[in-house]
Amino acid sequence: MSESEVREGRLYLKSLSAEGVEHVYLPKAVGASAVAAPLVAGSKKEKLLALREQVMTCTLCDELAQKRKNVVFGAGNIGARLMFVGEAPGRDEDLQGLPFVGKAGQLLTKIIESIGLTRREVFICNVLKCRPPDNRAPEPDEILNCSQYLEKQIDWIQPEIICALGTFAAQTLLKTGTSISRLRGEAHQYRNIPVVCTYHPAYLLRNPEDKRKVWEDMKKIRSELAKGQS
Ligand code: URA
Repeated sequence: MSESEVREGRLYLKSLSAEGVEHVYLPKAVGASAVAAPLVAGSKKEKLLALREQVMTCTLCDELAQKRKNVVFGAGNIGARLMFVGEAPGRDEDLQGLPFVGKAGQLLTKIIESIGLTRREVFICNVLKCRPPDNRAPEPDEILNCSQYLEKQIDWIQPEIICALGTFAAQTLLKTGTSISRLRGEAHQYRNIPVVCTYHPAYLLRNPEDKRKVWEDMKKIRSELAKGQS
């Protein structure tokens, strides 16, 4: 193939990408079956960095975009086997631009460490990337606006297990209105990835008697991760 054909091909793929096409089917070799080649250029890291850039300047939710101090994209290991999804940044997270750094975050750190992991080994993010004013509950249209970002984070990180922290994360990922107390303890999946639903650490701070249930959920995660390694 000549250089000009390669250039033309690249331009064509770019134009498809601009139209929102994410995969094209290319023949592997003559006689081999077609394979799906990612059209979004770059490695996982590059794609997540590009997504981060996009999220940092997002203005889809007027009120949140106007009132936020920082966008909280998420933090941790982009090769993580375990991903935690919370609800939305609170005051501390909004100030620092990092997820789960306040009191609930300190408890989440202990929860992660209880199964022999560190925050640096997992990936932590939220359904909403901006703080709802006065920590009000996320509105349905805000969840809708922001869930495209969460979907991409999950698609690209491809964790082996997702831990949904609290009602909003569990209901958003599983597209259900069922309460967290009913969702926890049951097996769920998000696009073929097992989802373990558990109580939000902020809830646990108010209801420490439910810590035992979260410990049960974490043990389940630990044994699933161990299975994946054997
Ligand atoms: N609560 C959340 O759901 N997420 C955070 O990042 C902090 C508190």
